[in-house]
Amino acid sequence: MKILVTGAAGFIGANFVYYELAKYPDDEIVGFDALTYAGNLETLDAALKCPRFRFVKADITDRAAVEALFEKEKFDIAVNFAAESHVDRSIEDPGVFLRTNILGAQTLMDAARKAGTPRYHQVSTDEVYGDLPIGRPDLLFTEATPIHTSSPYSASKASADLLVQAYIRTFGLPATISRCSNNYGPYQFPEKLIPLMIANCLADKPLPVYGEGLNVRDWLYVDDHCKAIDLVARTGKVGEVYNIGGHNEMKNIDIVKLILDYLGKPESLITYVTDRKGHDMRYAIDPAKITAELGWAPETMFADGIKLTIDWYLANKTWWERIVSGEYQRYYEKMYGGR
Ligand code: NAD
Ligand code: DAU
Repeated sequence: MKILVTGAAGFIGANFVYYELAKYPDDEIVGFDALTYAGNLETLDAALKCPRFRFVKADITDRAAVEALFEKEKFDIAVNFAAESHVDRSIEDPGVFLRTNILGAQTLMDAARKAGTPRYHQVSTDEVYGDLPIGRPDLLFTEATPIHTSSPYSASKASADLLVQAYIRTFGLPATISRCSNNYGPYQFPEKLIPLMIANCLADKPLPVYGEGLNVRDWLYVDDHCKAIDLVARTGKVGEVYNIGGHNEMKNIDIVKLILDYLGKPESLITYVTDRKGHDMRYAIDPAKITAELGWAPETMFADGIKLTIDWYLANKTWWERIVSGEYQRYYEKMYGGR
């Protein structure tokens, strides 16, 4: 099999590249990424040493480049991870989210149609369902939950999902969609909650908790997400949406305290800051469909996964310290300076 992985230099895309290379010793992977601020080629260092992996630097909205690549490579499966992925940035500047997340998906699907690619998979998010109230553990997102977006990021991801469904129905594109909850693990960009808190803790910097820290997210170790995407892209039913999540709801403040505790740092580092605009209260996924149809179940318990993750950041300081000291430093000052 030959597999296209867009967004391969980002957090989940890179983890997926390593998952596929290890699991399928005969498959070839083409990693595709524009290397935006969130893409880091260093993350793919080990993959680049493997003769079954190649990297293409290009933008998913570059129609000529995308169509030429699909025509030349004749992929068996195309998996689209490439996206602008950070909610806070989408509040600052929505335009690039619409361009990459919607028009990029359209460009990829047009190329897949032209080249007759047998399978296109769109990596989506639970954020397309909006949010759920706290104190109603009986309410979970199912695939039948209506789309109801809160941020420009989630609106752009939902728009792409609707476009995928339109391409399936109108053009018969053989596509699937997966909607996952919050991921954590190695190689996550330190603008996201868990790596940001680890990095700040290690530098004895304040830990900026939005609002009262009571918002709930449903955390999944990144390898479990990769395993689910692999199953859906290869064996999921064309035209279907699959929710992915591990029944692991946690309040932000509890995650922050857990990180402080593991690193032996004082809770006085916690600083409550102005809340995110439109901040979703709670996400919680019902993964019953993917479990029943494809036999997927998460393997890494949060208690283990968070230790693995913190240990990874401790052992790979140069990876994230280079990020934190570069362009990201200016972003951090802008986002948190007067908050
Ligand atoms: P990320 O920001 O770490 O990586 C995104 C990658 O896409 C980067 O390498 C970036 O360079 C690349 N990219 C951005 N714009 C591009 C463009 N125009 N052309 C080509 N490449 C481009 O994101 P992530 O956390 O790895 O998320 C990957 C996907 O998974 C996204 O589609 C996101 O919506 C989805 N998702 C993420 C999570 C999560 O918790 N991180 C959960 C569910 C779904
Ligand atoms: O649910 C899936 C989504 O999870 C993905 O689609 C997104 O790409 C991914 O970024 C993530 O979105 P969130 O907004 O949930 O993740 P983030 O890490 O930005 O924030 C997690 C929670 O922590 C959220 O309630 C906001 C809060 N937070 C975040 C940051 C960065 C803080 O309290 N302080 C912070 O500094």
